[in-house]
This record gives sequence, C-alpha cells and structure tokens, in this order.
Amino acid sequence: MNPVLDCPAACPFVEARNPAFDFPVGQLRRVAAVDPEGDVDETKRNVLKLLAVAGIVGAGAGGLVGGTLQYVQPPVVGISSYPVTQLLDVDGTALTVDKVQNEYNVRTGELYLFNYPLRNEPNFLLNLAPPDGDQPSASNPGAWNVPYGIGDHGSIVAYSAICQHLGCPAPAIAYYPPGTCSQTFNTPNMASQPFYIHCSCHGSTYDPANSANNLTGPAVLPLPQVLLKIVDGNIFAYGELGPPVNGHLNTLQGDYGVGSTSQLASEGPVIACFFGPTS
Ligand code: FES
Repeated sequence: MNPVLDCPAACPFVEARNPAFDFPVGQLRRVAAVDPEGDVDETKRNVLKLLAVAGIVGAGAGGLVGGTLQYVQPPVVGISSYPVTQLLDVDGTALTVDKVQNEYNVRTGELYLFNYPLRNEPNFLLNLAPPDGDQPSASNPGAWNVPYGIGDHGSIVAYSAICQHLGCPAPAIAYYPPGTCSQTFNTPNMASQPFYIHCSCHGSTYDPANSANNLTGPAVLPLPQVLLKIVDGNIFAYGELGPPVNGHLNTLQGDYGVGSTSQLASEGPVIACFFGPTS
C-alpha cells in the first residue's frame, strides 16, 4: 500500500511561506563575463583559434559555410505524433487499472510520475476517487467522472508535472491531498474542494478534477492533460490535451520520445502552503 497523508485541518508542514521558495519573478541576474585571456584553458583557447581560422578560410573560399561560422544550430529533437505508451508500475510490471483503484485514491500524498510523450516531460498520475469506492461528498472529498478520467468512476487522470508559470517541475509542483493546507476552493466539482495541484515556487494552483484549470495565479494556463485508456486492464497513454508543456513550443519537440513504455517513479512532494495571487 502507498502512504496516505493523514492531515489535520491546518497545514502540518509550514506555518507560512518558506523563504526557500522565493524565486524572484522577472528579476535580472548578473552573470560575470569570462576573461578570454584569463580563465579559458589552453584546450578551449585552441578550439577558439581553430574556429576563427575556419571562419577566415570559409570566407576566403567563397563561403562554403556561408562565409563565416556564425551559428551552430542544435538539432531539433522530437517526435512526429503521440505514441501509444503502456504505463509500467514502479517495479516495472504492467500498471493495471485495478491496482490504481485499489492502492491510490484522493488521499494519496506520494507523487506518481511518468514521462510522456517526451523523456523530459513528467506527468502526475492521480486517482481522485475517495478510498474504498465510496461516493464523493462534502464529508468524503473526491471526484468521479472527471473530464477524460478512466476507471470504474472516471477518476483516474494524468496532468503535466511542470508548472505553467515559469516551469517548476515536480516535486516543487505537487498534488495536495485533502487537509494538506487549510485553503479550499469552490469548483465545478464541489464547494470547498480541499484537494488540488499546487506549485510552491510562486503559488499557482490547479484543479485536478476539472482539466487542471487555474485556481490561483500567477499561472494563467491549465496544465496539459495526458489522455489515458485501458486495454485489457492495463493503462496506456495515447495523446494530450491543452496547451504545450511550459518551455516547449510544441509538446512533441524538445527531447526524444518515451517509446512504447513509460515507468512510474514515486517521489515525495515539496509542500508549502503559499497561495499566489489570483489572476
Ligand atoms: S513556476 Fe511560478 S508558480 Fe509555478
């Protein structure tokens, strides 16, 4: 069984915002210049000389490389379409919907992450159903029939684990089970919904029961949602909805694809009960 947070009404982790998460927004940072005659070692200096000579030779030869070596373009890495990728459990075995329904629920505090569709794009796998198959209610929070949710109650979903504000990845952005922090939100799912995805970098909050829409800023875009399906009891990812992952012009470019399988990794969340300004 996975650990389940048994939280009191007040946030048990921090009383106020942890200054360790004060990442200034939009602040210029000065980076010292490198003295070309000082810190560059001999090997680097020789490479620079070689490039300069190659540029002169290229110019003299009528511009075989456009006259001089101006830019070295990194290759564009990516995939052409969304793969159908089977999710594997943390131990490498097939991840079944029965296992997720039996072992994960809305109170599960540990993060379960898998990369999709690229190797550098982590996503949360969540089961928002209350424990023991009980129907969600005010006294037993949870969500059934979540948009694009799978499983017996449509409660299993997956969202990008990279914040849409400035790109903080999990575990700084994390799923907060009911009771982790005292804040609640009125959502289409329920009044005073006590569970959410929250980013401790600047306080953005997302609603996992409603397409990861924004509950607090500064982020203004929802998290991309990974489309899941069940084949013979096993869970597969096969596409994505919403905006591109933060930092990627398009979700299919920016790294190599994950291929036909992607294995879950578990991580402990970073919890900070700081909620940013709504915007
Ligand atoms: S990166 Fe700023 S709120 Fe997440």
